Amino acid sequence: MSIHINLNGTISDNAYISVLDHGFLFGDSVYEVVSTIQGRPVFLAEHMRRLRRSAAALNLGIPYSDEKFAEEIGRTLNSANNSESYIRMIVTRGVGELDLDPTSCTSPNVIIMVKEAVVYPQENYDKGIHLALVSVKRNLKESLNPGLKTGNYLNNVLAKMEANRTGAADALMLNASGYLTECTTSNIFFVKDGRIFTPSLDCGILEGITREKILWLARENGFLVEEGEWPPEALEQAEEAFITGTVKKVMPVTWLNGRPIGDGKPGPTTKKLMRLYDDYLKRILQ
Ligand code: PDD
Repeated sequence: MSIHINLNGTISDNAYISVLDHGFLFGDSVYEVVSTIQGRPVFLAEHMRRLRRSAAALNLGIPYSDEKFAEEIGRTLNSANNSESYIRMIVTRGVGELDLDPTSCTSPNVIIMVKEAVVYPQENYDKGIHLALVSVKRNLKESLNPGLKTGNYLNNVLAKMEANRTGAADALMLNASGYLTECTTSNIFFVKDGRIFTPSLDCGILEGITREKILWLARENGFLVEEGEWPPEALEQAEEAFITGTVKKVMPVTWLNGRPIGDGKPGPTTKKLMRLYDDYLKRILQ
């Protein structure tokens, strides 16, 4: 795999970071994943805003301005010269004492990784994927808030491992109150009686940028959309479901825990939103 890594402004294919970086030791870091279309980062302003929100909640100073980030991303994309890219931006707490107190860390590290775009098999979009409702619960908002995109993804790693054991493509997590939240790297929606439902931000989820775009597109196109607290039974009884994320875009979900959702095929509302989102991406880049 060819990867181009920009570490504090130096681009190489094998950057190294100290084991005393608190990002490595404690997951004390924030990150964003951005994709490109026609070689250009998509929704970079929105990703920058979320990166800054996550960092602010950790009281982690980001040493770059948005302009500097855009410039460094551009340089890394140029050096990679991919047709389309997957971009990961990370800001870590930096090197400090072997102690979790961050006050000894005075110099955050900024990393931008660029690799060839991740493309999911077309079959996933044509037939939909299988999700497992796992026993691992999404964090409480009052703990490490799932609304922050930090380098501490172990909860999601555990959920993914549980899904892998069942052969499902991804894990769907409930919160401590038993309501639906999200998958390990995507938000979930479902459709019933022509209405679109998705867990609200209060459930403890990442405020997905794709989720926001889909909510807006759905409402613009006359769909009734409800954000709220939904038990897993609501999804089991749904006619359609889909997940959203920067890399996956809109991906149909047709099976949950070995049972079909609706007739087990991507439904008309999902297909329409997939089309609307693709058209929207084409439009914004013109
Ligand atoms: N994940 N929920 C979680 C827990 C996520 O990690 C992500 C993104 C999303 C979707 O957010 P967005 O639409 O802004 O990509 C929801 C990225 C893609 C990742 O970590 O790979």
